[in-house]
Formats: sequence, C-alpha cells, structure tokens
Amino acid sequence: MSKSLQAIRGMNDILPEQTPAWRYLERTFATLLDGYGYHEIRLPIMEFTELFARGIGEGTDVVDKEMYTFLDRNEESLTLRPEGTAGCVRAVLEHGMTGGGQVQKLWYAGPMFRYEKPQKGRYRQFHQIGVEVFNLPGPDIDAELIVLTARLWQRLGLTDAVTLQLNSLGSSADRGRYREALVAYLQERFEQLDEDSQRRLTTNPLRILDSKNAQTQALLQDAPTLADYLDDESRAHFDGLKARLDAAGIRYQINPKLVRGLDYYGRTVFEWVTDKLGAQGTVCAGGRYDGLITQFGGKPTPGVGFAMGVERLVLLLETLACLPGDLQRPADLYLCAFGEAAELAGLKLAEQLRDARPDLRLLVNAGAGSFKSQFKKADKSGALWAMILGEDELAAQQVALKPLRGDAPQEKVDFAALAARLDEILPPAGFGRGN
Ligand code: HAM
Repeated sequence: MSKSLQAIRGMNDILPEQTPAWRYLERTFATLLDGYGYHEIRLPIMEFTELFARGIGEGTDVVDKEMYTFLDRNEESLTLRPEGTAGCVRAVLEHGMTGGGQVQKLWYAGPMFRYEKPQKGRYRQFHQIGVEVFNLPGPDIDAELIVLTARLWQRLGLTDAVTLQLNSLGSSADRGRYREALVAYLQERFEQLDEDSQRRLTTNPLRILDSKNAQTQALLQDAPTLADYLDDESRAHFDGLKARLDAAGIRYQINPKLVRGLDYYGRTVFEWVTDKLGAQGTVCAGGRYDGLITQFGGKPTPGVGFAMGVERLVLLLETLACLPGDLQRPADLYLCAFGEAAELAGLKLAEQLRDARPDLRLLVNAGAGSFKSQFKKADKSGALWAMILGEDELAAQQVALKPLRGDAPQEKVDFAALAARLDEILPPAGFGRGN
C-alpha cells in the first residue's frame, strides 16, 4: 500500500478486538473517580503553542523536540497537546473555576501527541487518563491521589506488578539553590558528562539526574542531593505525605533522582513503574505544580495531578492476563427472516423488543439468504439464540427460538409473549463487563 494510505508512524488504530479492554479500563477508572468525587472535563486537543512552551517549559524535551506544531490558515501557531495539564489549567482559569479558592477535582481522558521514537509502549499518538486538583495545598490531597491510583491497581489486579517511586522537588527557591550547587559540581566534571547532559547543564540541569548514561550516573554518586536543600515547609509537606501513605499501608521507594521531564513540578513528584513492560515502565506519573497558574497570569493557586498511559496499562493487563474473560458480551439473539413479508414483520418485531428491553443485543440478518446461509451467519455471530421467522411462523404470529450454544430445546413463542420469554431465557441486564 502506498505510504500516504498507511497510518502515520507511531499512531495506532485501536481495533475492535482491542476496544473492550480499553473500555474496561476507562470504565473502571471513571467509576473509581466518581467514588472519590472527581468530575470529568473535556478539553480541546489543540492549543496555542505558547501555552505549552510557557507551561511545560522551554528546555524540556517535550517542548524542544517533540511537539506537533503548525501554523493554521490564520498564521497562528497551534500545537497538538503533548499532555493534558497545561490545557486543563488554561480551561479552569478561562472559566473562573478556581477563583475565591474554589476547589476543583477534575479528570480527563484522550489522545496526546509527542514526536518521539516509536517503540513498544511509546507512541506518537498515545492516550492518557489524567487527574488535576486545584486549590488544595496540603499533602493530604497528594496522598489521596496516590491512594486512589493504588485502588485502581487493586481493582485491575495489578497491585503486585507496580511500585511507587516518590520524591520531593522542594520549592522553586530550594531548586534554585540546589541547581547552583549541582551545576557547580558538574561543571568541574564537564568533560566526563555525556553529550546530552553537557547540553542540559545549561538548559535543564536537574534532568541530568535521570540520565541513562552509566558514566554520568557514576559521576552523580557524589553529587549534592536535592533532599539536603529542602526548606522546612517542603520537608514538612513531604513528611506529611509519607505519614499518610504509611497510614494507608502504601509502600513506596524514595527516589532522589526522580525529577520528571516537565518543568512545572515542585514538591511532590511520583511515578508508578512496572518491570513487566521493558524500557517503557512508567504507567502513571505526576506531582504538584503550585507555581504553574501564576506562570499563566492567574492568582497563586495550588495544583496537583497525574496522568496514566492507557496503552501501557492495556499492555500490562494483557501481558499479565489480568483482563476479565467476559469483556466481550455476546449478542443475545440473531434474527433470521425468510421472505419479504417476514423481513418486514421481523424489523417491526425487533424494534418492539428493543423498546421492551433496552439492553437487548439483537442482530438482525441483513442481505437475506437461504436458511443455511442465515443460520451460518447466526452461528458465526456468537449470539446465544437464533430467532427464526419464516412464512409459517408469520402466519401463526410466532417465532421459533433455537439455541445456538448449549442444548436447551427449540421452542415456538407468540409475538405477544416474546419479551417476557426473553426475560426468562437471557442473561440478566448488566451481565458481562464489556459494556
Ligand atoms: P508524563 O510523565 O509526561 O506526565 O506522562 C504521563 C504518562 O503518560 C507516562 O507515565 C506514560 O505512562 C504515558 N506516556 C507519556 N508519553 C507516552 C508515549 N509517547 N507513549 C505512550 N505513553 C506515554 C504528564 O503528561 C503530566 N501532564 C502528568 C501530570 C498531570 N502531572 C500533573 N498532572
């Protein structure tokens, strides 16, 4: 096939056999968030480029190398969102949702776009489910976010597959002092740094801490650590968070090198990681960003949130065989109709049954066909029962119900009694986890 008729590299179709797992994950998450009092917000997938440049930060990989940016017909620079936090902050400010200290607990889901090197677990269009909370400055809400993600792992059967990494980045003054100390230390060892880290020494020195280069990591062994630069307030915040996680029985590893790739974080940062997916092991990540809203011109407003990678979580569910077996609920009935009069009556009957039982899964044969061919299609559809309407049945105002799975006897049922009979023989409403 010519290249222009293929999907763009790193942008995937999510095919019908994959969507039940996606819906399961999305629904489990939405139900969980309802239970904690979070509300969904839906945001545009494009924003003005400047929003991301200012929010995520010049000097970050995302802004410098990974954004899909273009001029629209009005010569305005627009960018496909690489993440959800900046747009969410823009929306709450624009709609005055955080004025007067109003608390907002929000979540969103949808595609994000980053021009990265595609590989397993890393794509150019990927999906996040994210949460953002505004106007709650304390460690209690940081703890709630982590507790609710832990509950999600529990509901999904993933608790043993993920571990929590935690760090505090302190206040911006703390980071300023630390940055100076780190730069001074690394400057003396400049020649030993890898090329990327040499560049970062001027653009974004804290990111050197999570360099993958072994020699750079060895150099960092004796470097100053951020924990020693935290002021009393940041330290108290971090202690408060740890105490709550301990109380909730949530295990964590303090990772002093966890700095995150986006510039807006301060104090709490965390990542849930797994070793079951190879290199792309972070399934959920976030932290506090109390300075971001003032950066956008708003009044000081605390913010904290996280986002999880849907593709990575689906991969993990598949890899560990954690997907429930009944995700794809089969159709209840397949209606076979023979002859035009039966087809017309069948259509009417099918719609009456849908009125009576809104969750009914009823496939109506399309394209006519012989008894044999319609039956074959009925069987292939996976439906539990075939509902047969031929000339004889029509004359008697009846259908024949023939089981396609199991060995219940075939039966004839009057049109008028059909809805009630279906209630008896079909699985109860809400059966199955697929939809
Ligand atoms: P992030 O760490 O850039 O944070 O992304 C969050 C998660 O999205 C990652 O942990 C990963 O699971 C998934 N992800 C990121 N890039 C890709 C990719 N190219 N392919 C597949 N999955 C990917 C943020 O985006 C922040 N906005 C999170 C946040 C919300 N912080 C505070 N509030």
